[in-house]
Amino acid sequence: GLETDLAGRRVVVSAGGTREPIDPVRFIGNRSSGRQGYALAATAVARGAAVTLVSANVDLPDPAGADVRRVGSATELRAAMLAASAEADVVVMAAAVADFRPRTAAEAKIKKSGAAPRPIELAENPDILVELTRERNRAGTGQVVVGFAAETDHVLEHGRAKLARKGCDLLVVNEVGEGRAFGTADNQAVVLGADGSATEIPNGPKEALADRVWDLVRERLAG
Ligand code: C5P
Repeated sequence: GLETDLAGRRVVVSAGGTREPIDPVRFIGNRSSGRQGYALAATAVARGAAVTLVSANVDLPDPAGADVRRVGSATELRAAMLAASAEADVVVMAAAVADFRPRTAAEAKIKKSGAAPRPIELAENPDILVELTRERNRAGTGQVVVGFAAETDHVLEHGRAKLARKGCDLLVVNEVGEGRAFGTADNQAVVLGADGSATEIPNGPKEALADRVWDLVRERLAG
């Protein structure tokens, strides 16, 4: 039945937002709550999957039955996702990954010196989703890879371009702006498929959106 349609499937979900260290006490972060990723993990457990949840800085209770691995930075999230995804049937990148990190993290807390403040030099983080889809293609498995995207304008056009660039099977595109998506309990989205499909998911609880995403994943799993 529907309740166990992911039985025997191994899924990996990333959630939350990365923190890129500036010094031992400071970081560059983002406002991701982790709620959509946690809802994906909880609903996958409910549908019978073996779930690994790679959690970046989320202040929510662990979803019962998921194997939760905590990470801080994009570098740590990348290592955890590459390791966990090797054995997975489905990989979902719901985490908000920082595009840039401070080029070096100071070993000691940075002090005011009285002089002009020192700029923080940035380095670009690797695109983990692109790496995961490349690895999947190289291994030749039927692994299903799902990405997320937040867009403010030209949602379908930008979403289609992003889906192609990332090489994933499904891209869950949220329209963001005033009071939408980040930190709220509800979410709405359009899910774009590499097969050209577009599925509207009306505004509702993040668990309902998660279940619709798993429906679309299920259709793409072999066997
Ligand atoms: O390019 P953009 O950040 O809009 O893409 C969002 C998607 O890419 C999300 O699934 C996010 O988890 C993933 N991503 C990633 N590595 C990055 C940046 C984004 O995996 N460095």
